[in-house]
Amino acid sequence: MTNNVYINRRKKLLEMMDDGIAIIASATYAHKSNDTEFPFRQNSNFRYLTGLNEADSALILSKKGGVEKQIIFVRPKDEIAEMWAGKRLGPVKASELLGTDEGYSIEELDKKLEELLPGHKSLYVHLSERTDIADKARKIAASLFHKKRAQQELPPDTFKNVGHLIEKMRFIKDETEIATMREAMIVTDRAHRAAMALARPGATEQEVNALMTYLFMKGPSQGSAYDNIIAGGNNANCLHYIKNDEVLNEGDLILIDAGSELNGYATDITRTFPVSGTYTGIQKEVYNIVLESQLAAIELSKPGNNATILHNKVSEILTQGLIDLKVLEGSVSSNIEQANHRKYFPHGTGHWLGLDVHDQNPYLIEGTKDPMTFTKGCIFTIEPGLYFNNEFSNIPEDLKGIGIRIEDNILITDDGYENLSHMIPKTVEEVEEACAKDVKEFLL
Ligand code: GLY
Ligand code: MN
Ligand code: MN
Repeated sequence: MTNNVYINRRKKLLEMMDDGIAIIASATYAHKSNDTEFPFRQNSNFRYLTGLNEADSALILSKKGGVEKQIIFVRPKDEIAEMWAGKRLGPVKASELLGTDEGYSIEELDKKLEELLPGHKSLYVHLSERTDIADKARKIAASLFHKKRAQQELPPDTFKNVGHLIEKMRFIKDETEIATMREAMIVTDRAHRAAMALARPGATEQEVNALMTYLFMKGPSQGSAYDNIIAGGNNANCLHYIKNDEVLNEGDLILIDAGSELNGYATDITRTFPVSGTYTGIQKEVYNIVLESQLAAIELSKPGNNATILHNKVSEILTQGLIDLKVLEGSVSSNIEQANHRKYFPHGTGHWLGLDVHDQNPYLIEGTKDPMTFTKGCIFTIEPGLYFNNEFSNIPEDLKGIGIRIEDNILITDDGYENLSHMIPKTVEEVEEACAKDVKEFLL
């Protein structure tokens, strides 16, 4: 993305702020064991505002008496550290690149905060992530309050959530963001097709995981947006199964929930297909119930509707399906009223999607109890499922071990929707055709 995109985003955030100073921190390395760390993943809000992929950095946006100032803090240049762990931009280059007013070493952050905080009414921090930075800023503000009481410029005395403002901006995707997610989806499509071609009785979940990870990393995406879920048979009934280490068995289904990540943007796709290439009668029956509910929800995706409307529709269709399958008795409405269907459909119908796989966008309209209204440019998932754990009693025997979820990624347009993942095989016929392909074509 061009630098102008980030400049405009910071400008917009400053417009949304009252008189105050905001601190938006980057991610830091997470310790793995001894002297090793988990792979670095940038904080999504920091990336959204700067495009920088450096650890241990912070952006400060200041608005005081009509004057605005932007300051970037990054790790200092360090020849030895860079020889071991890779290049750093350094404060001068970072500031030039971003077009901020000033740039400093992150090591100067505490000292600079003491200078910068006084005179601002509010301190904007993220109240749920990087609480270490929020705590540090609050403590510095508190200490200044005592020190500078006699002086004119008091430090901020109000805490505000900067995350809340950035999330509002991230709710609507611009053209570049949408183009990035489209590009990521091309890779995700390929990886799901490859998995359908590879899976067979005797293969392992790990093997399928390796192939999908390879394709996600081969690019143009950089890897998986979240841990791939490769769940054969009854493992599909564990919603976030990531062990991925069992053998695939003849006659079982395999549920794959996996999406590539490109430049920080996630795709999030689930398909459930037969290990041996052909659905059995009962598998097809359950699959088509889930598919019917998913297609109905997709058709309701348009400006003005909301996630609750979709969830209610999905719940109705799945509950009718559960009655048809002889899992539930009675009417759809009485079962829904008593939440009987929730044993077999225990999750939501979807979530916002973007820089985070579960994008941190608001569920409710600010100040109300109403769900956010779908608006042109917002992106979300639709992912109904039915799960019949083989340990469930009082369900027909042939359902045991079946777990099916179908997930697509939906963009709201002027007057309806676009299914960004429309190309990924989904109907029984499309999936069986994809399962019959030779995996070699995906390895080139
Ligand atoms: N991949 C996690 C989810 O579908 O929400
Ligand atoms: Mn998913
Ligand atoms: Mn999802």
